[in-house]
Amino acid sequence: MSSDARRTRTVRPIPDRPPSFAEARTKRAKVRAAGMDPDYWYAAAYSSELPRGRTLATRFWGQPIVLFRGTDGSLHALEDRCAHRQLSLSGGEVNGCHLTCTYHGWTYDGDGNVVHYAHDLFGRARPEVKVPSHPVTTRHGLIWIFPGDPALADTRPIPDIPELSGSRPWARLDASYTWQAHHSMIIDNVSDFTHAYLHRRYRPFWDAKLTRHELIEDRVELSYDTFIGGGRFTSRFVDRRRVDTTSIELAFDYPYQRSDTGGSIKHWCFVLPMDRRTSRVFFLFYFDALKIPGTRRPVPHWLMPHLMRAAGALAVRPLLREDGHAVESEQLGYERHHAAPIVELNPAVGLFQELTIRKWEEFLDRDRARPRPSGIASADGRVLPPFRGG
Ligand code: FES
Ligand SMILES: [Fe+2]
Repeated sequence: MSSDARRTRTVRPIPDRPPSFAEARTKRAKVRAAGMDPDYWYAAAYSSELPRGRTLATRFWGQPIVLFRGTDGSLHALEDRCAHRQLSLSGGEVNGCHLTCTYHGWTYDGDGNVVHYAHDLFGRARPEVKVPSHPVTTRHGLIWIFPGDPALADTRPIPDIPELSGSRPWARLDASYTWQAHHSMIIDNVSDFTHAYLHRRYRPFWDAKLTRHELIEDRVELSYDTFIGGGRFTSRFVDRRRVDTTSIELAFDYPYQRSDTGGSIKHWCFVLPMDRRTSRVFFLFYFDALKIPGTRRPVPHWLMPHLMRAAGALAVRPLLREDGHAVESEQLGYERHHAAPIVELNPAVGLFQELTIRKWEEFLDRDRARPRPSGIASADGRVLPPFRGG
């Protein structure tokens, strides 16, 4: 055999799509295919996005969900699929606490039961039809859904943020984006401070040295010595006599991410994994140590909302858009070059990925063992025998 023929036989074609979770052999491929455990509460929208009498379509890991708020103010979350001919219910109409599909007028209550048929039933008994519903609630100005086993919803807490309640809540700044990127890329991004270069114009942090990283049960804790808030806008408002801005504590407290600078500047990041390459991310920043520039006087309470609006427009949102461009570009890079090795230097990133993979494996194990109505696909794609129509 010629050496050319030998070379030809050893060339393996590179698959044109990244491997699934079951196919993945490397940590990188596994984490980029992992879902997020649905047995947690996930922020899905701002409460203000869903007025009374309206619907809002969203997704959790590919599963379409319709949120609707009744004209009576009640909030509901159903699978976004009419049981009749599978139209999206989010195109329907809300009346009272019910949602009516736009096509043949089947009307659903908040638990997903069809309570009215707007047409003749051809002499048949009224069918007992239901679509799955999800626990839903509001907290911190956000709508939260529980996409997993409803029986577990009461056992899982939504993060408590005591600084935002009480008579003098901290100043708050919100920002939300839908990015074309896998959720794990966003978690890597928000806790990996090696990307100060990306933000060289705004300098939210620089010269970061990782001083601690530890995986403790379902949480990765890490700290950096770094300089926080050195941008042109933020550096004037942060009261450095009251807050130590030379280090930061972060955590990936599965499935949420948070930070704390000196006990006075904090944030949460809530990621909704919509599908393998789409994530909605909700950033919630809150501050306790802001001063009037050029003085030592704290920013008065009445001025805070105006200051937060200006900070959002001038500093925070432009900076987060840089992160958005980076993770979307990383997603495209992964899809094109998933078989090429990468060099990962930050050891904390390895811990986020380990945790994400383990939590998804644990969920898949629970999901395989869970009794379910037949015909419902398990999370790893197996489809059980046909649904009996109930
Ligand atoms: S498809 Fe919804 S009522 Fe027919
Ligand atoms: Fe960033």
